[in-house]
Amino acid sequence: MKFPLTFVLLALASSHAFASYPSPLQDFCVAINDSNSTVLVNGKFCKDPKLAIANDFSFPKFRYPRNTTNLVGFKVTTAFGLVWHFPKAEPNGPFVNQFPGLNTLGIAMTRLDFALHDLNPPHIHPRGTKMLVVVEGMLYVSFVTSNQLNNTLFTKVLTKGDVFVFPQGFIHFQLNIGQANALAFAFLSNQNPGLITIANTFFRSKPLINVDVLTKAFQVDNKLINYLQA
Ligand SMILES: *[C@@H]1O[C@H](CO)[C@@H](O)[C@H](O)[C@H]1NC(C)=O
Ligand SMILES: *[C@@H]1O[C@H](CO)[C@@H](O)[C@H](O)[C@H]1NC(C)=O
Ligand SMILES: *[C@@H]1O[C@H](CO)[C@@H](O)[C@H](O)[C@H]1NC(C)=O
Ligand SMILES: *[C@@H]1O[C@H](CO)[C@@H](O)[C@H](O)[C@H]1NC(C)=O
Repeated sequence: MKFPLTFVLLALASSHAFASYPSPLQDFCVAINDSNSTVLVNGKFCKDPKLAIANDFSFPKFRYPRNTTNLVGFKVTTAFGLVWHFPKAEPNGPFVNQFPGLNTLGIAMTRLDFALHDLNPPHIHPRGTKMLVVVEGMLYVSFVTSNQLNNTLFTKVLTKGDVFVFPQGFIHFQLNIGQANALAFAFLSNQNPGLITIANTFFRSKPLINVDVLTKAFQVDNKLINYLQA
């Protein structure tokens, strides 16, 4: 009976060892951008490391601000007369799909440009913790803890040079509360951290979620749900 117990303890210990992002098995693995060689399990195929060049590890597109006036599909006027500008700041990357050198390195980055009053709406990165640094302007940032931690709201007002960390998997957002545009960069602890925008999940799914489900879940009138889905 001794052996199985040891085995169970070892299994438990090793499950702890694997509770974090796994270490790469090679020096690097620049992804091959070939739609025919996409691996759907985890990661991408590697370019021959002897053929890697400096440009594989460089991403020049952060030099330029995003066009925050181009808000097609992101501008929402609410029933209360508020206008939300959803910045196209953090759509999907550059994660590994846009930046092949990130493959297997466990890291990604985004640039966030906020026009006046812009909101990066509540969202989740299911596979990555995010660390954000403000470069210009003033942001009101927040995340909400899990049910187990009583859904506590943590908030902070950040100015130039301030850093905030959003733990993996929690709903979080950033709002420009300054008198000018704001600029921030965020670093994520996964080459492909994922993005789930909460409002889209509930009100823009295809097909739409049954109104009865949403009225019960949010304890509101079905007219409001119909309005939000529209
Ligand atoms: C992918 O495969 C298709 C069909 O075999 C081929 O026509 C296409 O050129 C391939 N693409 C690349 C990038 O190799
Ligand atoms: C930004 O987008 C708007 C709307 O599409 C366009 O009118 C404007 O010329 C763009 N500005 C720049 C600098 O590209
Ligand atoms: C990879 O290929 C896709 C589709 O062909 C393209 O949209 C994307 O920009 C490419 N990525 C890189 C880093 O070249
Ligand atoms: C959550 O709320 C319960 C009930 O009020 C309390 O007993 C518990 O300590 C709280 N937990 C945390 C992490 O705040």
